Amino acid sequence: MQIIQGAQPLTGNSASVIQNLVSFTPGRVNLIGEHTDYNGGMVMPAALHLGLRSELKVLAGTSNEICVVSRSVNQTLKLDSADIAPLAARILSTGIERSERVEISETETQSHSWTAYVIGCFAIFEAALKSRQIGRIPWHQNSLSFVLESNLPQGAGLSSSASLCVSLLSQLNVLSGAILDAAAIARLAMYVEHRFAGTKCGLMDQLAVLCSRAGFYTRIDFLEFPQSQDFHISYARAHESLQYYALVIFKTGVTHSLAESAYNERRMSCESALRALNKKLSLSCSSLGELARLPRFQSVESESQFLNLLEQLLETEKESKILARRACHAMRENSRVLEAARALGNGDLQALSTAMRGSHSSLDSLYEVTCPELNIACTAVERTVHEMCSRKSNPPVLPLIGPRMTGGGFGGSTVQLLHASLCDGLLERFASTDNPYTSETGILPQLIVTKPSAGFSLGFECLN
Ligand code: GLA
Repeated sequence: MQIIQGAQPLTGNSASVIQNLVSFTPGRVNLIGEHTDYNGGMVMPAALHLGLRSELKVLAGTSNEICVVSRSVNQTLKLDSADIAPLAARILSTGIERSERVEISETETQSHSWTAYVIGCFAIFEAALKSRQIGRIPWHQNSLSFVLESNLPQGAGLSSSASLCVSLLSQLNVLSGAILDAAAIARLAMYVEHRFAGTKCGLMDQLAVLCSRAGFYTRIDFLEFPQSQDFHISYARAHESLQYYALVIFKTGVTHSLAESAYNERRMSCESALRALNKKLSLSCSSLGELARLPRFQSVESESQFLNLLEQLLETEKESKILARRACHAMRENSRVLEAARALGNGDLQALSTAMRGSHSSLDSLYEVTCPELNIACTAVERTVHEMCSRKSNPPVLPLIGPRMTGGGFGGSTVQLLHASLCDGLLERFASTDNPYTSETGILPQLIVTKPSAGFSLGFECLN
Protein backbone atom coordinates (compact mmCIF):
# COMPACT_ATOMS: atom_id res chain seq x y z
CA MET A 1 0.00 0.00 0.00
CA GLN A 2 1.44 3.32 -1.03
CA ILE A 3 0.18 6.89 -1.18
CA ILE A 4 1.99 9.04 -3.73
CA GLN A 5 1.72 12.78 -4.29
CA GLY A 6 0.49 13.62 -7.79
CA ALA A 7 -1.56 11.72 -10.34
CA GLN A 8 0.05 8.50 -11.52
CA PRO A 9 -2.57 6.25 -13.13
CA LEU A 10 -1.50 2.79 -14.32
CA THR A 11 -0.41 2.91 -17.89
CA GLY A 12 -0.76 0.08 -20.33
CA ASN A 13 -0.72 0.22 -24.08
CA SER A 14 -4.15 0.66 -25.62
CA ALA A 15 -4.31 -3.07 -26.45
CA SER A 16 -4.09 -3.95 -22.77
CA VAL A 17 -7.15 -1.87 -21.83
CA ILE A 18 -9.94 -4.40 -22.03
CA GLN A 19 -12.71 -2.35 -20.48
CA ASN A 20 -13.41 1.29 -19.82
CA LEU A 21 -16.19 2.15 -17.40
CA VAL A 22 -17.10 5.75 -16.65
CA SER A 23 -19.54 6.65 -13.93
CA PHE A 24 -20.97 9.78 -12.36
CA THR A 25 -22.22 9.80 -8.77
CA PRO A 26 -23.78 13.01 -7.48
CA GLY A 27 -23.78 14.52 -4.02
CA ARG A 28 -27.09 15.12 -2.23
CA VAL A 29 -28.92 17.80 -0.35
CA ASN A 30 -31.61 16.89 2.16
CA LEU A 31 -34.68 19.12 1.95
CA ILE A 32 -36.11 17.88 5.26
CA GLY A 33 -36.03 14.93 7.69
CA GLU A 34 -32.75 15.12 9.57
CA HIS A 35 -31.30 12.47 11.91
CA THR A 36 -34.39 10.37 11.26
CA ASP A 37 -32.87 7.74 8.95
CA TYR A 38 -31.37 5.75 11.86
CA ASN A 39 -34.43 6.41 14.02
CA GLY A 40 -37.13 4.65 11.99
CA GLY A 41 -38.19 7.88 10.32
CA MET A 42 -38.47 9.66 6.99
CA VAL A 43 -36.22 11.85 4.84
CA MET A 44 -36.61 13.83 1.62
CA PRO A 45 -33.26 14.37 -0.15
CA ALA A 46 -32.45 15.12 -3.79
CA ALA A 47 -29.29 14.40 -5.76
CA LEU A 48 -27.25 17.41 -6.92
CA HIS A 49 -25.91 18.26 -10.36
CA LEU A 50 -22.42 18.19 -8.78
CA GLY A 51 -20.61 14.97 -8.05
CA LEU A 52 -17.80 12.55 -8.70
CA ARG A 53 -16.75 11.26 -12.09
CA SER A 54 -14.83 8.00 -11.99
CA GLU A 55 -13.07 6.54 -14.98
CA LEU A 56 -12.03 2.93 -14.58
CA LYS A 57 -9.71 1.15 -16.97
CA VAL A 58 -9.35 -2.61 -16.69
CA LEU A 59 -5.88 -3.66 -17.82
CA ALA A 60 -5.25 -7.22 -18.91
CA GLY A 61 -2.05 -9.16 -18.54
CA THR A 62 -0.69 -7.24 -15.57
CA SER A 63 -0.44 -8.54 -12.03
CA ASN A 64 -3.29 -7.67 -9.70
CA GLU A 65 -2.58 -4.04 -9.01
CA ILE A 66 -5.11 -1.40 -8.06
CA CYS A 67 -4.38 2.23 -8.63
CA VAL A 68 -6.76 5.01 -7.62
CA VAL A 69 -5.97 8.59 -8.56
CA SER A 70 -7.80 11.47 -6.92
CA ARG A 71 -7.39 14.53 -9.12
CA SER A 72 -9.07 16.76 -6.52
CA VAL A 73 -6.52 15.85 -3.81
CA ASN A 74 -3.74 15.29 -6.34
CA GLN A 75 -2.75 11.94 -4.81
CA THR A 76 -2.46 8.35 -6.00
CA LEU A 77 -3.19 5.29 -3.90
CA LYS A 78 -1.54 2.05 -4.97
CA LEU A 79 -2.76 -1.27 -3.59
CA ASP A 80 -2.67 -4.93 -4.40
CA SER A 81 -4.74 -7.92 -3.41
CA ALA A 82 -2.43 -8.72 -0.47
CA ASP A 83 -3.39 -5.37 1.13
CA ILE A 84 -7.09 -6.06 0.82
CA ALA A 85 -7.45 -9.76 1.61
CA PRO A 86 -6.57 -9.53 5.36
CA LEU A 87 -8.98 -6.62 5.85
CA ALA A 88 -11.74 -8.54 4.04
CA ALA A 89 -11.01 -11.57 6.22
CA ARG A 90 -11.26 -9.44 9.37
CA ILE A 91 -14.61 -8.04 8.23
CA LEU A 92 -15.91 -11.52 7.41
CA SER A 93 -14.81 -12.87 10.78
CA THR A 94 -17.09 -10.41 12.63
CA GLY A 95 -19.83 -10.19 9.99
CA ILE A 96 -20.07 -7.30 7.52
CA GLU A 97 -22.81 -5.46 9.36
CA ARG A 98 -21.03 -5.33 12.72
CA SER A 99 -19.80 -1.88 13.52
CA GLU A 100 -16.35 -2.61 15.00
CA ARG A 101 -13.81 -0.26 13.58
CA VAL A 102 -11.23 -1.67 11.14
CA GLU A 103 -7.96 0.22 11.50
CA ILE A 104 -5.65 0.56 8.53
CA SER A 105 -2.18 1.04 9.88
CA GLU A 106 -0.63 2.91 6.95
CA THR A 107 -3.38 5.49 6.83
CA GLU A 108 -4.09 5.63 10.55
CA THR A 109 -3.01 9.22 10.80
CA GLN A 110 -5.49 10.17 8.16
CA SER A 111 -8.41 7.89 8.95
CA HIS A 112 -10.90 10.31 7.45
CA SER A 113 -8.91 10.80 4.30
CA TRP A 114 -10.23 9.64 0.95
CA THR A 115 -7.80 6.68 1.01
CA ALA A 116 -9.49 5.11 4.07
CA TYR A 117 -12.83 5.11 2.22
CA VAL A 118 -11.27 3.65 -0.93
CA ILE A 119 -9.51 0.84 0.94
CA GLY A 120 -12.72 0.23 2.90
CA CYS A 121 -14.72 -0.16 -0.32
CA PHE A 122 -12.36 -2.79 -1.74
CA ALA A 123 -12.24 -4.72 1.55
CA ILE A 124 -16.02 -4.64 2.11
CA PHE A 125 -16.65 -5.60 -1.50
CA GLU A 126 -14.33 -8.59 -1.31
CA ALA A 127 -16.00 -9.64 1.95
CA ALA A 128 -19.46 -9.26 0.35
CA LEU A 129 -18.49 -11.42 -2.63
CA LYS A 130 -16.96 -14.09 -0.41
CA SER A 131 -19.99 -14.14 1.89
CA ARG A 132 -22.10 -14.84 -1.21
CA GLN A 133 -19.63 -17.52 -2.39
CA ILE A 134 -18.76 -15.46 -5.48
CA GLY A 135 -15.14 -16.25 -6.35
CA ARG A 136 -14.60 -13.73 -9.14
CA ILE A 137 -12.82 -10.88 -7.37
CA PRO A 138 -12.37 -8.24 -10.13
CA TRP A 139 -8.77 -7.33 -9.24
CA HIS A 140 -7.60 -10.95 -9.10
CA GLN A 141 -7.68 -11.44 -12.86
CA ASN A 142 -6.67 -7.98 -14.07
CA SER A 143 -5.32 -4.67 -12.85
CA LEU A 144 -7.65 -1.76 -12.20
CA SER A 145 -6.86 1.89 -12.67
CA PHE A 146 -9.36 4.47 -11.42
CA VAL A 147 -9.18 8.21 -12.02
CA LEU A 148 -11.53 10.18 -9.78
CA GLU A 149 -12.49 13.78 -10.40
CA SER A 150 -14.99 15.59 -8.23
CA ASN A 151 -16.59 19.02 -8.35
CA LEU A 152 -18.44 18.37 -5.11
CA PRO A 153 -17.17 20.47 -2.21
CA GLN A 154 -15.70 18.34 0.63
CA GLY A 155 -16.82 18.86 4.21
CA ALA A 156 -19.92 20.71 3.05
CA GLY A 157 -22.42 18.14 4.32
CA LEU A 158 -23.26 17.22 0.71
CA SER A 159 -22.28 13.53 0.98
CA SER A 160 -18.97 13.50 -0.82
CA SER A 161 -17.95 10.33 1.02
CA ALA A 162 -21.19 8.49 0.16
CA SER A 163 -20.67 9.54 -3.43
CA LEU A 164 -17.11 8.13 -3.41
CA CYS A 165 -18.15 4.80 -1.86
CA VAL A 166 -21.24 4.30 -4.03
CA SER A 167 -19.18 5.11 -7.12
CA LEU A 168 -16.44 2.54 -6.41
CA LEU A 169 -18.76 -0.19 -5.16
CA SER A 170 -21.11 0.18 -8.13
CA GLN A 171 -18.28 -0.03 -10.65
CA LEU A 172 -16.85 -3.09 -8.89
CA ASN A 173 -20.33 -4.61 -8.88
CA VAL A 174 -20.58 -4.31 -12.67
CA LEU A 175 -17.07 -5.70 -13.16
CA SER A 176 -17.62 -8.68 -10.90
CA GLY A 177 -20.93 -9.62 -12.48
CA ALA A 178 -22.27 -10.06 -8.93
CA ILE A 179 -25.32 -7.90 -9.70
CA LEU A 180 -25.91 -6.76 -6.16
CA ASP A 181 -29.02 -4.57 -6.14
CA ALA A 182 -29.09 -0.87 -5.20
CA ALA A 183 -30.11 -1.62 -1.62
CA ALA A 184 -27.17 -3.99 -1.16
CA ILE A 185 -24.70 -1.48 -2.65
CA ALA A 186 -26.09 1.32 -0.46
CA ARG A 187 -25.72 -0.83 2.67
CA LEU A 188 -22.14 -1.79 1.81
CA ALA A 189 -21.32 1.90 1.32
CA MET A 190 -22.87 2.61 4.73
CA TYR A 191 -20.76 -0.13 6.36
CA VAL A 192 -17.63 1.47 4.89
CA GLU A 193 -18.56 4.64 6.85
CA HIS A 194 -19.22 2.61 10.02
CA ARG A 195 -16.11 0.49 9.90
CA PHE A 196 -13.48 2.59 8.16
CA ALA A 197 -14.47 6.15 9.10
CA GLY A 198 -16.11 5.36 12.45
CA THR A 199 -19.35 7.25 11.67
CA LYS A 200 -22.43 5.22 12.54
CA CYS A 201 -24.54 6.93 9.89
CA GLY A 202 -27.89 5.84 8.50
CA LEU A 203 -28.66 4.97 4.89
CA MET A 204 -30.07 8.24 3.55
CA ASP A 205 -27.00 9.58 1.76
CA GLN A 206 -26.11 6.35 -0.01
CA LEU A 207 -29.67 5.80 -1.27
CA ALA A 208 -30.04 9.43 -2.33
CA VAL A 209 -26.89 9.45 -4.46
CA LEU A 210 -27.75 6.06 -5.93
CA CYS A 211 -31.49 6.16 -6.53
CA SER A 212 -32.53 9.81 -7.05
CA ARG A 213 -34.33 10.87 -10.23
CA ALA A 214 -33.99 14.15 -12.10
CA GLY A 215 -36.80 16.56 -11.24
CA PHE A 216 -37.93 14.70 -8.11
CA TYR A 217 -37.32 14.75 -4.38
CA THR A 218 -36.67 11.25 -3.08
CA ARG A 219 -38.87 10.36 -0.16
CA ILE A 220 -37.42 7.49 1.81
CA ASP A 221 -39.28 5.89 4.71
CA PHE A 222 -37.10 3.91 7.07
CA LEU A 223 -40.03 2.80 9.15
CA GLU A 224 -38.63 -0.66 9.87
CA PHE A 225 -35.10 0.58 10.48
CA PRO A 226 -32.89 -0.57 12.19
CA GLN A 227 -34.76 -3.81 12.80
CA SER A 228 -34.90 -5.02 9.21
CA GLN A 229 -32.87 -2.33 7.40
CA ASP A 230 -35.74 -2.20 4.91
CA PHE A 231 -36.97 1.04 3.47
CA HIS A 232 -39.52 2.35 1.01
CA ILE A 233 -38.69 4.87 -1.71
CA SER A 234 -41.15 7.06 -3.57
CA TYR A 235 -40.54 10.08 -5.77
CA ALA A 236 -42.19 13.43 -5.11
CA ARG A 237 -42.40 15.86 -8.01
CA ALA A 238 -42.57 19.43 -6.81
CA HIS A 239 -45.78 21.37 -7.51
CA GLU A 240 -45.62 23.68 -10.58
CA SER A 241 -45.53 26.79 -8.36
CA LEU A 242 -42.02 25.71 -7.30
CA GLN A 243 -40.73 26.25 -10.82
CA TYR A 244 -40.31 29.93 -9.85
CA TYR A 245 -37.89 28.96 -7.07
CA ALA A 246 -34.23 27.99 -7.19
CA LEU A 247 -32.78 25.36 -4.86
CA VAL A 248 -29.90 27.16 -3.16
CA ILE A 249 -27.21 25.65 -0.94
CA PHE A 250 -25.20 27.93 1.33
CA LYS A 251 -21.86 26.37 2.23
CA THR A 252 -20.73 27.81 5.55
CA GLY A 253 -17.08 26.84 5.04
CA VAL A 254 -16.79 25.18 8.46
CA THR A 255 -16.65 21.52 9.47
CA HIS A 256 -16.24 20.96 13.18
CA SER A 257 -13.70 18.34 14.05
CA LEU A 258 -15.83 16.57 16.66
CA ALA A 259 -18.61 15.97 14.15
CA GLU A 260 -18.16 12.16 14.01
CA SER A 261 -18.07 11.60 17.73
CA ALA A 262 -20.97 13.98 18.30
CA TYR A 263 -22.96 12.21 15.57
CA ASN A 264 -22.37 8.81 17.18
CA GLU A 265 -23.23 10.27 20.57
CA ARG A 266 -26.62 11.49 19.21
CA ARG A 267 -27.33 8.03 17.88
CA MET A 268 -26.43 6.43 21.21
CA SER A 269 -28.67 8.88 23.11
CA CYS A 270 -31.58 7.94 20.83
CA GLU A 271 -30.93 4.25 21.47
CA SER A 272 -30.82 4.85 25.25
CA ALA A 273 -34.04 6.89 25.12
CA LEU A 274 -35.74 4.13 23.13
CA ARG A 275 -34.69 1.44 25.60
CA ALA A 276 -35.87 3.51 28.55
CA LEU A 277 -39.22 4.43 26.98
CA ASN A 278 -39.89 0.82 25.96
CA LYS A 279 -39.18 -0.28 29.51
CA LYS A 280 -41.27 2.41 31.13
CA LEU A 281 -44.26 1.80 28.83
CA SER A 282 -43.78 -1.99 28.64
CA LEU A 283 -43.41 -1.85 24.87
CA SER A 284 -40.98 -3.34 22.41
CA CYS A 285 -40.81 -0.74 19.64
CA SER A 286 -37.76 -1.04 17.43
CA SER A 287 -37.22 2.69 16.90
CA LEU A 288 -38.24 6.12 18.16
CA GLY A 289 -40.06 6.53 14.83
CA GLU A 290 -42.24 3.52 15.62
CA LEU A 291 -42.90 4.83 19.12
CA ALA A 292 -43.91 8.23 17.67
CA ARG A 293 -46.65 6.57 15.62
CA LEU A 294 -48.48 5.34 18.75
CA PRO A 295 -51.72 7.26 19.49
CA ARG A 296 -50.47 8.36 22.93
CA PHE A 297 -47.69 10.37 21.23
CA GLN A 298 -49.61 11.31 18.07
CA SER A 299 -52.26 13.05 20.17
CA VAL A 300 -49.78 15.43 21.84
CA GLU A 301 -50.03 18.73 19.98
CA SER A 302 -47.36 21.16 21.04
CA GLU A 303 -43.65 20.63 21.18
CA SER A 304 -43.44 21.79 24.79
CA GLN A 305 -46.12 19.28 25.88
CA PHE A 306 -44.29 16.54 23.98
CA LEU A 307 -41.00 17.44 25.65
CA ASN A 308 -42.66 17.54 29.09
CA LEU A 309 -44.16 14.12 28.54
CA LEU A 310 -40.78 12.68 27.54
CA GLU A 311 -39.06 14.34 30.49
CA GLN A 312 -41.56 12.73 32.85
CA LEU A 313 -41.24 9.30 31.24
CA LEU A 314 -37.46 9.48 31.32
CA GLU A 315 -36.99 11.21 34.68
CA THR A 316 -35.27 8.28 36.39
CA GLU A 317 -32.66 8.01 33.65
CA LYS A 318 -29.18 9.47 33.76
CA GLU A 319 -29.06 12.72 31.74
CA SER A 320 -32.83 12.48 31.38
CA LYS A 321 -33.26 16.02 30.04
CA ILE A 322 -30.75 15.45 27.25
CA LEU A 323 -32.36 12.12 26.32
CA ALA A 324 -35.78 13.76 26.27
CA ARG A 325 -34.60 16.55 23.95
CA ARG A 326 -32.94 14.11 21.52
CA ALA A 327 -35.97 11.82 21.46
CA CYS A 328 -38.32 14.77 21.06
CA HIS A 329 -36.56 15.84 17.85
CA ALA A 330 -36.32 12.32 16.43
CA MET A 331 -40.00 11.62 17.15
CA ARG A 332 -41.44 14.92 15.89
CA GLU A 333 -39.33 15.49 12.79
CA ASN A 334 -41.36 12.87 10.89
CA SER A 335 -44.55 14.90 11.07
CA ARG A 336 -42.67 17.83 9.51
CA VAL A 337 -41.50 15.57 6.67
CA LEU A 338 -45.09 14.48 6.06
CA GLU A 339 -46.23 18.08 6.11
CA ALA A 340 -43.46 19.10 3.71
CA ALA A 341 -44.30 16.24 1.33
CA ARG A 342 -47.95 17.32 1.32
CA ALA A 343 -46.99 20.97 0.81
CA LEU A 344 -44.56 20.11 -1.99
CA GLY A 345 -47.28 18.21 -3.80
CA ASN A 346 -50.06 20.78 -3.52
CA GLY A 347 -47.97 23.95 -3.78
CA ASP A 348 -48.54 25.13 -0.20
CA LEU A 349 -45.20 26.90 -0.15
CA GLN A 350 -45.80 28.70 3.14
CA ALA A 351 -46.40 25.33 4.86
CA LEU A 352 -43.21 23.95 3.29
CA SER A 353 -41.27 26.91 4.64
CA THR A 354 -42.78 26.49 8.12
CA ALA A 355 -41.84 22.80 8.17
CA MET A 356 -38.25 23.54 7.08
CA ARG A 357 -37.81 26.29 9.66
CA GLY A 358 -39.36 24.09 12.35
CA SER A 359 -36.84 21.38 11.47
CA HIS A 360 -33.93 23.81 11.81
CA SER A 361 -35.08 25.11 15.15
CA SER A 362 -35.56 21.57 16.50
CA LEU A 363 -32.07 20.59 15.30
CA ASP A 364 -30.75 23.70 16.99
CA SER A 365 -32.46 23.60 20.36
CA LEU A 366 -33.35 19.90 20.88
CA TYR A 367 -30.91 17.82 18.86
CA GLU A 368 -28.14 20.42 19.22
CA VAL A 369 -26.32 19.64 15.99
CA THR A 370 -26.15 23.17 14.58
CA CYS A 371 -23.28 25.56 15.24
CA PRO A 372 -23.02 29.37 15.29
CA GLU A 373 -22.06 29.53 11.60
CA LEU A 374 -25.16 27.55 10.49
CA ASN A 375 -27.41 29.89 12.47
CA ILE A 376 -25.62 32.99 11.20
CA ALA A 377 -25.98 31.66 7.62
CA CYS A 378 -29.76 31.32 8.03
CA THR A 379 -30.14 34.81 9.49
CA ALA A 380 -27.79 36.37 6.92
CA VAL A 381 -29.80 34.96 3.99
CA GLU A 382 -33.11 36.02 5.53
CA ARG A 383 -31.85 39.53 6.19
CA THR A 384 -30.37 39.93 2.73
CA VAL A 385 -33.53 38.65 1.03
CA HIS A 386 -35.60 41.02 3.14
CA GLU A 387 -33.41 43.99 2.16
CA MET A 388 -33.54 43.04 -1.52
CA CYS A 389 -37.33 42.81 -1.39
CA SER A 390 -37.66 46.16 0.32
CA ARG A 391 -35.92 47.77 -2.67
CA LYS A 392 -38.24 46.13 -5.23
CA SER A 393 -41.47 47.80 -6.33
CA ASN A 394 -43.21 44.44 -6.76
CA PRO A 395 -41.48 41.85 -4.54
CA PRO A 396 -42.58 38.20 -4.58
CA VAL A 397 -45.20 37.28 -1.96
CA LEU A 398 -43.03 34.50 -0.56
CA PRO A 399 -39.40 35.26 -1.49
CA LEU A 400 -37.75 32.54 0.62
CA ILE A 401 -38.73 28.97 1.60
CA GLY A 402 -36.63 27.78 4.55
CA PRO A 403 -33.74 28.10 5.30
CA ARG A 404 -32.55 25.17 7.37
CA MET A 405 -29.34 23.27 7.98
CA THR A 406 -28.94 20.16 5.82
CA GLY A 407 -27.10 16.88 6.55
CA GLY A 408 -25.45 15.80 9.77
CA GLY A 409 -24.74 19.33 11.04
CA PHE A 410 -21.83 20.77 13.10
CA GLY A 411 -20.98 22.90 10.07
CA GLY A 412 -21.62 22.07 6.44
CA SER A 413 -24.42 23.80 4.58
CA THR A 414 -27.92 25.22 4.74
CA VAL A 415 -30.65 24.70 2.15
CA GLN A 416 -33.37 27.05 0.97
CA LEU A 417 -35.67 27.66 -1.99
CA LEU A 418 -35.32 31.20 -3.24
CA HIS A 419 -37.62 33.07 -5.62
CA ALA A 420 -35.79 33.01 -8.97
CA SER A 421 -36.09 36.79 -9.40
CA LEU A 422 -33.79 37.23 -6.37
CA CYS A 423 -31.22 34.60 -7.19
CA ASP A 424 -28.66 36.66 -9.12
CA GLY A 425 -28.83 39.44 -6.52
CA LEU A 426 -28.25 37.03 -3.63
CA LEU A 427 -25.32 35.30 -5.34
CA GLU A 428 -23.74 38.65 -6.09
CA ARG A 429 -24.16 39.87 -2.52
CA PHE A 430 -22.46 36.81 -1.01
CA ALA A 431 -19.69 36.69 -3.63
CA SER A 432 -18.12 39.80 -2.13
CA THR A 433 -16.83 39.98 1.43
CA ASP A 434 -19.27 42.79 2.16
CA ASN A 435 -22.06 40.48 3.31
CA PRO A 436 -23.63 39.81 6.72
CA TYR A 437 -22.22 36.24 6.96
CA THR A 438 -18.61 37.21 6.29
CA SER A 439 -18.79 40.27 8.50
CA GLU A 440 -19.75 38.05 11.48
CA THR A 441 -17.64 34.97 10.78
CA GLY A 442 -14.77 36.23 8.63
CA ILE A 443 -15.52 33.39 6.18
CA LEU A 444 -16.50 33.85 2.54
CA PRO A 445 -19.34 31.36 1.94
CA GLN A 446 -20.02 29.52 -1.29
CA LEU A 447 -23.54 29.57 -2.73
CA ILE A 448 -24.56 26.75 -5.06
CA VAL A 449 -27.70 26.88 -7.19
CA THR A 450 -28.80 23.37 -8.08
CA LYS A 451 -31.86 21.33 -8.96
CA PRO A 452 -33.02 17.81 -8.08
CA SER A 453 -30.86 15.66 -10.34
CA ALA A 454 -30.37 12.02 -11.30
CA GLY A 455 -28.54 9.50 -9.13
CA PHE A 456 -25.62 7.25 -10.11
CA SER A 457 -25.11 6.64 -13.85
CA LEU A 458 -22.68 4.44 -15.71
CA GLY A 459 -21.38 4.35 -19.28
CA PHE A 460 -19.09 1.95 -21.09
CA GLU A 461 -17.31 4.64 -23.08
CA CYS A 462 -15.65 7.86 -22.05
CA LEU A 463 -18.45 10.32 -21.42
CA ASN A 464 -16.46 13.38 -22.50
C1 GLA B 1 -25.40 12.33 7.75
C2 GLA B 1 -25.58 10.81 7.74
C3 GLA B 1 -27.01 10.43 7.36
C4 GLA B 1 -28.04 11.18 8.18
C5 GLA B 1 -27.71 12.68 8.21
C6 GLA B 1 -28.60 13.43 9.16
O1 GLA B 1 -25.53 12.85 6.45
O2 GLA B 1 -24.69 10.22 6.84
O3 GLA B 1 -27.18 9.04 7.49
O4 GLA B 1 -28.17 10.65 9.46
O5 GLA B 1 -26.37 12.93 8.59
O6 GLA B 1 -29.91 13.42 8.72
